[in-house]
Amino acid sequence: MTLPRIVIERCQYLATCSEEPGAITRRFASEAMRRAHEVAGEWLREAGMAVRRDHVGNLRGHFEGTGETTLLLGSHLDSVRNAGKYDGPLGVTVAIAAVQRLHDAGRRLPFAIEVLAFADEEGLRFGSTYLGSRAVAGTFDPADLDLTDADGITMRDAIRAFGGDPERIDHDTWSGGALLGYCEVHIEQGPVLEARDLPVGVVSAIAGQARHRITFTGEAAHAGTTPMDKRRDALAAAAIFVQAVEGYAGSSEGLVATVGQLTVKPGAANVVPGEVTLSLDVRHAGDTERVAASRALLDIAAQIAKHRKIGVSTAEISENATVPCSPRLISTLSLAVQDLGRPVTELASGAGHDAVAMSALTEVGMLLVRCKGGVSHNPAESVRTEDVAVAIDVLGRFLELLSKDNPK
Ligand code: GLV
Ligand code: MN
Ligand code: MN
Repeated sequence: MTLPRIVIERCQYLATCSEEPGAITRRFASEAMRRAHEVAGEWLREAGMAVRRDHVGNLRGHFEGTGETTLLLGSHLDSVRNAGKYDGPLGVTVAIAAVQRLHDAGRRLPFAIEVLAFADEEGLRFGSTYLGSRAVAGTFDPADLDLTDADGITMRDAIRAFGGDPERIDHDTWSGGALLGYCEVHIEQGPVLEARDLPVGVVSAIAGQARHRITFTGEAAHAGTTPMDKRRDALAAAAIFVQAVEGYAGSSEGLVATVGQLTVKPGAANVVPGEVTLSLDVRHAGDTERVAASRALLDIAAQIAKHRKIGVSTAEISENATVPCSPRLISTLSLAVQDLGRPVTELASGAGHDAVAMSALTEVGMLLVRCKGGVSHNPAESVRTEDVAVAIDVLGRFLELLSKDNPK
């Protein structure tokens, strides 16, 4: 079987490592992730790599080089709920394929390659993103260990149950010497490459994002006996807020804002909702614009609560600035695309990636692969085998070019 076909089949296999029958849901430190690790560990070994799992739960493969430096390649193995097959796994499997080629040819490069299959990029289980890449970059926040999942399990206990030592996550920080950078291949998750009729594109920057948690607190009451003018309905307030978010972002150039999670309490048909907690995700390629939009939207939440005589509290869950990709890695990736006779295109990524966290450690570069209809975070996510072939070739050429630039 050809390598691109193997990549597709591996992504399809990983899709079966799921917590939900008939859907792809693979959370941080879950049983489904354990099954994904078993098989991905085999793939890493087959490609000639030494394999280990670190404390936070990243799976790492190390391919020896002849020199002292290391290039990091990778992406994540966790998923959103009811995910597609390629968001994350494509980058891991393409990286393995590129190393497999070197291994099959009996090649060693002047630098080592470490393939990182990150434990958590999406933040589905604990709401806190980039757990795996932050551990490697040395920016993991130990306070996150006290976060709990929907079942009340702390991150500390989840890490322990998965086989890691939560008190030693600082040992996961990269300590292998000088780095040449971190490069991530990822499905585009948007419509730009398809519109430009191109298989791959080079990322210029990754848009910053903020996540907030907002809780409206009204008063639970009897749905049959409480008159409409006596209610303090938290869900009615939240509904107005959701519409306001859509309206605000829709009329602000370059801004996207999303309410994607809503918890209604007590959550019964015959009870006026007393409390609603919702997520707010705000993104813009400009940091000033993103910060201003977050402020304005939180202010709107406060105004709605005041007007409806209910309480509101907000908490910032995460916030990261726009991350520019390294000019050196952008130009090497672009040259690799060009050497393959393909038109070079640069695009900004609206999606967040492990590269964001890794930028605290080293220079980052990213290659995006065309995605059908721009659809992602959805089971319909799809890539073409021919495009995967281009991505593997570009990554292979990129490694050759880096070898020439870094002979020792
Ligand atoms: C990650 O997929 C994100 O951009 O939310
Ligand atoms: Mn994703
Ligand atoms: Mn992703």
